[in-house]
Amino acid sequence: MVSEQRVHKIAVIPGDGIGTEVTAATLEVLHTVERCVGSFQLQLTEFDWSSEKYLGKGFYIPENGLTSLATHDAILMGAVGSPTVSDHISLWGLLLPIRKSLNQFVNVRPVRMLPGVSSPLRRCKDGDIDWVIVRENSEGEYAGQGGISHPDSSNATATEVAIFTRIGIERTMRFAFETARSRDRKKLTLVTKSNAQRYGMVLWDRVFESLQSEYPEISCDKMLVDAMTVRMVQNPRSLDTIVATNLHGDIISDLAAALAGSIGIAPSSNLDPTRQHPSMFEPIHGSAPDIAGKGLANPLGMIISAIEMLKWLGEKEASDKILTAINLVTVSQILTRDLGGTATTKEVTEAIIRSLVYSEQS
Ligand code: NAD
Ligand code: IPM
Ligand code: MN
Repeated sequence: MVSEQRVHKIAVIPGDGIGTEVTAATLEVLHTVERCVGSFQLQLTEFDWSSEKYLGKGFYIPENGLTSLATHDAILMGAVGSPTVSDHISLWGLLLPIRKSLNQFVNVRPVRMLPGVSSPLRRCKDGDIDWVIVRENSEGEYAGQGGISHPDSSNATATEVAIFTRIGIERTMRFAFETARSRDRKKLTLVTKSNAQRYGMVLWDRVFESLQSEYPEISCDKMLVDAMTVRMVQNPRSLDTIVATNLHGDIISDLAAALAGSIGIAPSSNLDPTRQHPSMFEPIHGSAPDIAGKGLANPLGMIISAIEMLKWLGEKEASDKILTAINLVTVSQILTRDLGGTATTKEVTEAIIRSLVYSEQS
């Protein structure tokens, strides 16, 4: 008898550059795990929104595009950005409107060392980097408020207004406290710049202090973002869960990924924790025009993002299976160039698929 399969509707946006390459790799892995597990089905709809399409049509997201995305259970995104379109046009044309309109107000970025992958830090041992960065994802320095006067003159004057609301800060911080509570070490570090920025950042400090009494089991500390970069390098083991503003979270997550081996291995989840809208899963890296089309892109950041998506959708068995397969592949030193190896995107992907299929047969 064939039992009822769980169906998940997934919107897929490959985007630009290596976004399309790592998406193709990830879909192959997803198809394989779907067959291996057998109890769920991913109904994929591909959206070809990209910079190339923008150059032809004048828009990234067509009319009703966001409404159509909202009918899915989750979104998988590659990356957007092209040398042919200014970055502020492409990102405000595609990625940022999705995060904002679908209320994906936290961006969760777990970063850890994969077995067999070494850190560029000489003294860093296996397990020293195992962090979760919880990044505010809806406002702050990315509020999009500001303007420019006399743009084409030597008197050009621009403002870029950061907006910090108690609601925006508190919901992100609560998510971070809950994340810290769910982890063994029960540690949470707040990152700000409240020495130089005396309003918004001070509000972040205050909200953090006001929430601590509700989470007595969490040990908390605070870092200024400049000193935080030093601590990440010199004492990585002292950190566990980290909460930061939109911009600070963006910057320290690239650093974190590089310290764990490469920007090419880190996933991210743009979550609407209320689950009223679909969440979006994407690697933290960009479209990497310098290596696009060469088959060199590391697909792990996007494949691990798909693992996070499967967890969010309740498909734990499938997510565990992919993670086990990735661990086998990295231990065997089948690594792309960014991790010091010689394997191509295709070779890494095929090795993951082989190990998924093999574990099913044995
Ligand atoms: P990037 O992350 O694309 O690349 C930075 C460096 O890391 C490059 O040398 C690149 O080759 C390397 N790299 C990145 N991902 C890799 C991978 N998976 N495997 C191997 N090497 C990898 O950042 P950038 O160069 O600052 O940005 C390029 C474009 O991407 C810009 O248009 C930018 O705005 C955009 N961008 C988009 C997103 C997104 O869509 N989420 C994120 C970041 C940057
Ligand atoms: C990321 C990216 C984006 C961000 C850019 C491309 C707008 O760097 O997802 O980390 O800053 O959020
Ligand atoms: Mn970034």
